[in-house]
Amino acid sequence: MFHCTECQSAESKVEDQNEADFHQEPERQNLYFWPLMKLQNDLILRAARGEKTERTPVWLMRQAGRILPEYRVVREKIGGFKELVETPEFAAEVTIQPVDILGVDAAIIFSDILVIPEAMGLPYQMIESKGPWFERTIENKSDIDKLKIAEAGDLPYVMDAIQLTKKELKGRVPLIGFAGAPWTILSYMIEGRGSKTFSKAKKFLYTEPLLAHQLLDKITRSTINYLKGQIASGADIVQIFDSWAGILSPDQYNEFALRYISAICDAITEVPVIIFAKGAFFAREEMSKLKCSVIGLDWNMGIEESRKAIGWDKTLQGNMDPCLLYATDEKIVSETHKMLKAFGPKRHIANLGHGLYPDIEKEKVKLFIETIKKFRF
Ligand code: CP3
Repeated sequence: MFHCTECQSAESKVEDQNEADFHQEPERQNLYFWPLMKLQNDLILRAARGEKTERTPVWLMRQAGRILPEYRVVREKIGGFKELVETPEFAAEVTIQPVDILGVDAAIIFSDILVIPEAMGLPYQMIESKGPWFERTIENKSDIDKLKIAEAGDLPYVMDAIQLTKKELKGRVPLIGFAGAPWTILSYMIEGRGSKTFSKAKKFLYTEPLLAHQLLDKITRSTINYLKGQIASGADIVQIFDSWAGILSPDQYNEFALRYISAICDAITEVPVIIFAKGAFFAREEMSKLKCSVIGLDWNMGIEESRKAIGWDKTLQGNMDPCLLYATDEKIVSETHKMLKAFGPKRHIANLGHGLYPDIEKEKVKLFIETIKKFRF
């Protein structure tokens, strides 16, 4: 339903076209056929593949959202966060805002990692200034058995938002699709909300390891279907967020997290995959064996030691501390130059070490991005 095989097979034919037109087939001019355009800026894709780039590309985690007054206007117009995520026209609009306003080298589709638990049977709410909340959580085998393996068709609003965004981007920059990593998704399904320690989720790993594996397997299958749907809808590259990687021990991380991330990397062969495992400094060497193109670093991970642990087969992404963006302009410029030099000219996509905080000023974010875009080795 989301495929346009003609578009895909025709892709090579438009390689030389500078201005490819909207796919011409009048009866098919609907949301399910994104315009085929040669990307005008493919720096991020080239960097991900390890090819040469004229400069270091940049995008930011949480670039679409509360730091932009323009985002707040759209959000207020529509009501709540979920309504925004579930309305493709508005989701596409806020996805494109940071490309227009901040000048980033990629858009990331406006959605949330929690759409997967919902598609599997656990609806969530986003409570203002508190965060996510699930009315039902996973406690036992029968709860797991009741969950369905999600398919792309269960999340039509994400697929529609991606297709619409691709159309509206007109090939200016690539579009990043994303999903949560199985361990991080399991954490929310068991806790039902955010937590400092995620001790309920960790307890489940120690007390019910077999059930944990059953649940992780179902989440992994759902995530693969979901990412393949995003790619068929037009995502040019995908990122897996393992936000709670850092609370597991290295052994637990291997057993309950990496194994499933590895299955996702093996299954997604269509586009480059970025793995961002926040706090998993201990897993860097293991992660270098994954079939992914890019590994995201947080700011606790030293750049040189990370390169040594991971090697040159992967592109590295990151890793500025978002709190730098509270500093003076001079400090932002000097620290950004330091980061760029430490990564070097090859195989680097500039980003923060985690998402932007809501109270960071837009002008500081712009300065960070402009500093990266102006820098030449
Ligand atoms: O710009 C982008 O990065 C794209 C959009 C995006 C959102 N969430 C929108 C959002 C992405 C990639 C995410 C991923 C996500 N969601 C993660 C992984 C990344 C990370 O930060 O570690 C996680 C853990 C979630 C779950 C989630 N969503 C939480 C815990 C919260 C509440 C805390 C918070 O950051 O506000 C959300 C809400 C959320 N997701 C908002 C946005 C813009 C804020 C809602 C609002 O006020 O509009």
